[in-house]
Amino acid sequence: MNLTEIAHFRYATKVFDPDKRIPDQLFDQIKTLLRFSPSSVNSQPWHFIIADSPEGRQRLSQGALGSYAYNERKILDASHVILFCAKNAIDDEYLLHLLDTEDQDGRYADASQKDLVHQVRTMFVNLHRFDFKDAQHWMEKQLYLNMGAILLGAGSLGVDALPMEGIDIQALNEEFGLLKQGYTAVAMVALGYRKAGDFNAALPKSRRSEAEIFTVLS
Ligand SMILES: Cc1cc2nc3c(=O)[nH]c(=O)nc-3n(C[C@H](O)[C@H](O)[C@H](O)COP(=O)(O)O)c2cc1C
Repeated sequence: MNLTEIAHFRYATKVFDPDKRIPDQLFDQIKTLLRFSPSSVNSQPWHFIIADSPEGRQRLSQGALGSYAYNERKILDASHVILFCAKNAIDDEYLLHLLDTEDQDGRYADASQKDLVHQVRTMFVNLHRFDFKDAQHWMEKQLYLNMGAILLGAGSLGVDALPMEGIDIQALNEEFGLLKQGYTAVAMVALGYRKAGDFNAALPKSRRSEAEIFTVLS
């Protein structure tokens, strides 16, 4: 599939086939995308809870009770479900951890280069912490970038997906003890294969027109 074909193939899957499972070799590629997603100043402010069993999906479905019940079946019937969690805060200790990881991965030929990266990253992160005061929001943006890559990547593998913001963040934070680990649930992505007859697969896609959304400078 080329990009246009993938853009039309992928859609918000509303009914998953509970009998179809994503082969491990394909899901491993999705995990690679999760890990290698770009993020501002390589901040990687995320953690992913992955459910690939009925028990795991059951736990994640604790975030789809009450007024979120419209998403419950999607979580239970998908093959794999990923809960995207963002860091609640970004501190100096974490910035040093990033730096050491990069060093171990062989990115610094000498100490001065390493120091420079640390200074620049700290300056940029501190802008969000202390000037803009939007560090949490900024970190969540990094998660959404990752989520976008997953949706496109899944489509390229012929895997169906549904991103979900309609989840009970508080219930999920409690279920997985996320706050005390420094994270908060943000959104979920269910992955698997559409069930024949999913009403949403048959509906035409609807988007604002090219004329409305593009300004081409030529
Ligand atoms: C961030 C995000 C959150 C979404 N949350 C939900 C959700 O909780 N439940 C749901 O059924 N669809 C959800 N959707 C699906 C959107 O409604 C859908 O992507 C949009 O209508 C465009 O349709 P398409 O994805 O089929 O092209 C979400 C989509 C995105 C990108």
